[in-house]
Amino acid sequence: MFIVMIGPPGVGKGTQCKRLVNRLGIPHVSTGDMLREARKSVSHGEDLLAHMDRGRLVSDEVVTELVERRLELPDCQNGCLFDGFPRTIQQAETLDKILGKHGKSVGLAIEMSGDDKLLVQRMLKRAVEEQRPDDTVETLTRRLEIYQRETVPVAKYYEERGLLCQVSGIGTPDEVSLTIRQQIRDNGGKYRENSS
Ligand code: AP5
Ligand code: MG
Repeated sequence: MFIVMIGPPGVGKGTQCKRLVNRLGIPHVSTGDMLREARKSVSHGEDLLAHMDRGRLVSDEVVTELVERRLELPDCQNGCLFDGFPRTIQQAETLDKILGKHGKSVGLAIEMSGDDKLLVQRMLKRAVEEQRPDDTVETLTRRLEIYQRETVPVAKYYEERGLLCQVSGIGTPDEVSLTIRQQIRDNGGKYRENSS
């Protein structure tokens, strides 16, 4: 199953995806992680740096090319858990085309929500723990604005197709996981309860 995880910065997409992938038996495809890796290379480096560190979205072309190449690998043939992708309507449409070429489609979109104050607290805590250059108050404000403008319509895109479920990101990681797992089960996802 191809599952899309949508949510504002700091809501816990990465935290939850890491907990889910083993039990779902599909890989975690995080465009944020892929871009942080790609920026180390000479060909992409400076361009990506300029966008990511300012909290702006990287171009749809760069992101969808990375995703398309990732989806060609054998581990993605039965599905994957997208984290932070698609983030624009154009990316959502391109993903449908890429999967459609192989007779596949998105099976479920999960929208995580949280209030802005909590998101800022979590990001500032992570800034101390992980030193991500885009975890500053100024950049976070921009990322939240861009989320509202560009990515909230993506949740609507999936809602219109009957694929969206909404989950609160507020609560302990265990509490949030429980709700997400229930949603996946209710929506036909194969979730192995007893494996780790
Ligand atoms: P990306 O890496 O995707 O960042 P993001 O969406 O801003 O989200 P974060 O990773 O910051 O937050 P998260 O929801 O994963 O939360 P986490 O689990 O870490 O993207 C970075 C940049 O790359 C973008 O700004 C853009 O420039 C570019 N980019 C990426 N994808 C793109 C795309 N598709 N198109 C264009 N550009 C793209 O949790 C946050 C903190 O909270 C952690 O410290 C965690 O331990 C803690 N936490 C999590 N859950 C809980 C909980 N329940 N209770 C308490 N603490 C918790
Ligand atoms: Mg993340």
